[in-house]
Amino acid sequence: MELLSIDPLHPDAAAIAHAAELLRAGRLVAFPTETVYGLGANALDARAVERIYAAKGRPAYNPLIVHVASAESVSSVATEWPERAARLADAFWPGPLTMVLPKRGVVPDGVTAGLPSVAVRVPSHPVAHALLAAAQIPVAAPSANRSMMLSPTTGRHVARSLGDAVDLILDAGPTTVGIESTVVDLTSAEPVLLRPGTISLVQLEAVLGPVRRVSASSSDAARPSPGMLDRHYSPRAALFIASTAEVARQCANVQARGQRAGALVIDAPAPTAAITIRLARDAGEYASGLYAALHDLDDAGCDAIIVEQVPDGPAWLGVRDRLARAARSGGESGGGHR
Ligand code: TXA
Ligand code: MG
Repeated sequence: MELLSIDPLHPDAAAIAHAAELLRAGRLVAFPTETVYGLGANALDARAVERIYAAKGRPAYNPLIVHVASAESVSSVATEWPERAARLADAFWPGPLTMVLPKRGVVPDGVTAGLPSVAVRVPSHPVAHALLAAAQIPVAAPSANRSMMLSPTTGRHVARSLGDAVDLILDAGPTTVGIESTVVDLTSAEPVLLRPGTISLVQLEAVLGPVRRVSASSSDAARPSPGMLDRHYSPRAALFIASTAEVARQCANVQARGQRAGALVIDAPAPTAAITIRLARDAGEYASGLYAALHDLDDAGCDAIIVEQVPDGPAWLGVRDRLARAARSGGESGGGHR
């Protein structure tokens, strides 16, 4: 595995050309997007796409997002560009929004897990944009982590999670948005929010009118997005969500069991019994720091992470979704299950 440091705002042209060449040759390149790092491969090369699944240990039923340089390039992978899609692209591209559209036959089944639709996004990160423009191919890229684990928000996270399974990592330091893109399905009459992100339902509805939400608790079989497993985006440590008043007591419980506690707080006082990271009471800033904080608490050897519950409200939907997926069901840290 090769790791190249690259300036996030003014990426070196030679490094980009090298990465683009590898992609065109069917190799795997991890690169930064504004959300999380992606593990990229030529989306039109079935064998290259196969290597993504192998590198991640990803189940074959979980489809990938295809990244393109501009809205005009969507037609290389999708058969339709409905007016709704054009409106969304005007409002949110380049940026952390993924649209699900009917797919073209040239897109290998491996990309879409056999579905008749394909997920596409135009990322805004200058490195991602330069890479896509140079490669001149659509690039399939899931988050660059082992399946089910925390998504990477730095090149170091990628190197640790995937190691030699990836040919090149473009390391541009921390990403800014911090959680994965908002995913909207436009293949049926009513748009469906498949995965909340930092672009909120309110912002989407301002452009689209009513958008249906898929409940995170509906059974796997009933979900239009097969990869939306309940347990996902998880740190190694067990994660529990606690009210502001309960954070300290739950950390003390963890310590009393002879285990190491981590705490992720907003307003709660730093518990004496835990390694504590504090994030801002601002949904965007919180999302930006969330995965890095969980990676850091994992690295510090925490057995359990107590997360202070985050505010209600539409701006926090993406963060709440990721925390709920990372959390142990059954609530309280005293339960002892791992
Ligand atoms: O921010 C992001 O979206 C990052 C960066 C790298 O772009 N990518 C990412 O990819 O999070 P991934 O593979 O970890 O998540 C993609 C999700 C899948 O889990 C799946 O549920 C949904 O997008 N998806 C992909 N193709 C789909 C399709 N044809 N129909 C419905 N859902 C789809
Ligand atoms: Mg992922």
